[in-house]
Amino acid sequence: MCGIVGYVGPRDCSDVLIEALTKLEYRGYDSAGIAVFENGRIKVAKSKGRLTDLVEKMNKEGKPKGHAGIGHTRWATHGEPSDVNSHPHSGRRVTIVHNGIIENYKEIKQFLIDNDRTEFLSDTDTEVVAQLLDFYYDGDPVRCIRRVLHEIRGSFALGIVFADRPETVYAVRCESPLIVGQGKGEVFIASDVPAIIKYTKDYYLLDHKEIAVLRNGTVQFCSLHGRIIEKELLTADWDEDSAEKGGYPHFMIKEIHEQPTAVKTTITPRIENGLPDLSECGITPETLRGFKNIFIVACGTAMHAGMVGKYVIEKLARVSVTVDIASEFRYRDPLIDENDLVIIISQSGETADSKAVLSLVKQRNAKTLAVVNVKGSSIAREADMVIYTHAGPEIAVASTKAYMVQLSVMYLLAFEMAFAKGRISEEECRRLTLELVRVPDIIDQTIKRIENVCRYVSTKLITADSLLYIGRGLDYALSMEGSLKLKEISYIHSESYAAGELKHGTISLITEGMPVIAVATQNSLFEKTLSNIKEVKARGAMTIVICDQKADIDFDVANYIVRIPRISEMLMPMIATVPMQLLAYYTSVNKGNDVDKPRNLAKSVTVE
Ligand code: M6R
Repeated sequence: MCGIVGYVGPRDCSDVLIEALTKLEYRGYDSAGIAVFENGRIKVAKSKGRLTDLVEKMNKEGKPKGHAGIGHTRWATHGEPSDVNSHPHSGRRVTIVHNGIIENYKEIKQFLIDNDRTEFLSDTDTEVVAQLLDFYYDGDPVRCIRRVLHEIRGSFALGIVFADRPETVYAVRCESPLIVGQGKGEVFIASDVPAIIKYTKDYYLLDHKEIAVLRNGTVQFCSLHGRIIEKELLTADWDEDSAEKGGYPHFMIKEIHEQPTAVKTTITPRIENGLPDLSECGITPETLRGFKNIFIVACGTAMHAGMVGKYVIEKLARVSVTVDIASEFRYRDPLIDENDLVIIISQSGETADSKAVLSLVKQRNAKTLAVVNVKGSSIAREADMVIYTHAGPEIAVASTKAYMVQLSVMYLLAFEMAFAKGRISEEECRRLTLELVRVPDIIDQTIKRIENVCRYVSTKLITADSLLYIGRGLDYALSMEGSLKLKEISYIHSESYAAGELKHGTISLITEGMPVIAVATQNSLFEKTLSNIKEVKARGAMTIVICDQKADIDFDVANYIVRIPRISEMLMPMIATVPMQLLAYYTSVNKGNDVDKPRNLAKSVTVE
C-alpha cells in the first residue's frame, strides 16, 4: 500500500525523501512524488511509475532544494495511476500525502463544491482532504487538522505541509500506520521503520488520531483535543543491513535463507527446560485450558499458516479449530462468545480485514491472541495477548520467513496446549519440542541441498499457463501456500486441491504436459497421494513430487522429484515449505518478473 515519508533537518530533503521512499518500495506502488520547501515556497515533483521515473523527471526539470518536506509512493485506489493522481495533492495553502482511504470523500467533495471550491484536478480522495484542510485553515495548522479529523472517516495517515509554515511538517494517523523517527537534530515521518533506519533507530509510534508537529529537528505530539502529549521513544532492534539485500539478488531469496535464524530467534525464548513456555506473552497453561473453541482468522499466507495450525492443534490438543479468511469472517456474523479464543495471525499487524475482525470479536468478549511480526503494530497492541514472531523485517511482498515463523508459533502453541490439557504426556511434549528446536538446522540443510534442484525444475514451469498443487492432510494445507506463492510472483495460474477431491471434477482440467505439483510428505497418507499422482500422470500431467528422502517413488510416476529430509510427519510442513518457496522464486526469476514487487500487489494491505 502507499508509503509516506517526511523530513525536517539539515540534509538535502529531496535526497532523504527519495532514499526513504526507496526503502518503502516493497509496499507496492505505481507512482511517486515529493513536496519540499524551497526558499520558503512548496515545490512539488511527482510522476507516474517507479521512483526512478520521478528522479529522472527531477533531473530534467529541477530537483526541489530544501530541508523540510513530505514524500509518497502511491498504490492507486481512487483514480488510475497517473501523474495527476500522484501525491502530493494541494489546496491553495496546504499540500498533503496520504495513505489509506477516506470513506466519505464524496460527501466532503459535494460540501466543498456547495461552498464554491470547485478546483479539483484529480480523481483522488486525497485531494478532497487537501481542499478541506485549506477550507478550514485559519492560520492555526493544528486546529485545522483537528477540525478535519472530526469530519473525515476511514483509515488513513497523512503528511501535511502548510505554505505559510515553512520548515514544518505535520502528521496524523487514523488506523493506517505512521511512525516519527528522531535523529540527532533531524526528524522523520514514515509508514514503516525501514524507511528511516539508515538515519536513526529511534522512533515514536503515532497513535490513533494523534498529531505530530515536526520542526527544528524535534517533534511535539498532541491529541485530537489539542492536549500536548509525551510519548515513549522506542528503538528498532535491527539495523540497516537487515533492511538491505546483503549480496542476494532479491529480498525474497535473502529472506528464504534467513529462515533458520528467524525460527531459532522466535522459538528459543519460548522454551524453558525443554518445554514450551509462552508466559512472557501472557499465556499460561490455565489460559490454554479455558477455551471451548478456537478460531484462527487471517489473510493470505498468514491464513495458510493458520491452516497448518488447525491440523496440529486439533490433532494434539483435541480442540476444535476453525480457520477463516478475515474478509469473509468479518461479515458473516460469526458465532463467537467469551468462551472462545480468536487467534489473529498477521506479519504486518496492520491488515485492514484482520484488524476489523479483532475489533468485532473483542466486542463479543472473545479472548484474542495476536501472532504478529511487527512490534507495536495495531493488531499487536489491541489483542489481549500477543506472541511476536521474530522474523525481522520482511521486505519482499511474497511472504516466506514470516510464514515459517508463524508455523513455528503454531507448533509451540499446539504443544503447550496439548500438554496443558493433558492430551500429551510431559515426555511427548519434550520430544516434540526438541524436534522443533532441531528444525532450523534442517531447514538450513534443506535449502543448501535442494536450491539447485528447484532452480532446474522451475525451468519446466515457465511455459505453463496453469498448474495444480495437490496434497492430503497437512500436505494439502501446505499446498495452499505453495500455490499462492507460485501464482503471486510467477503470474502462472495455480490452484491448490485436496488430492482426494480431484476425481470430483477438477481432474478434467488435466491435459498433456500440465504441471501438477504433489506434496507427499505425510507417511500415513503417502499411498493415497501416490494413487492420485498416478491418476493425473496417466492423463498426461507433468508431475513434480515433493517427498522425503526415503519415499518409495519412481520416475515412472513422477517426472521430477524434489527430496527433502525426513522428520516426524507432523513437523514436515516446516521443511516442505522450502521447495515450494524456491520453486516459486526461481520460476519468477526465470520468467524475468519483478520478484520482490509483483504487479498489482502491496506488502501490507491496510485498506479493505
Ligand atoms: O501482514 P499480513 O500477514 O496480515 O498480510 C496478509 C496477507 O496480505 C499476506 O500474507 C500475503 O498473502 C502475502 N504477502 C503473500 O505472500
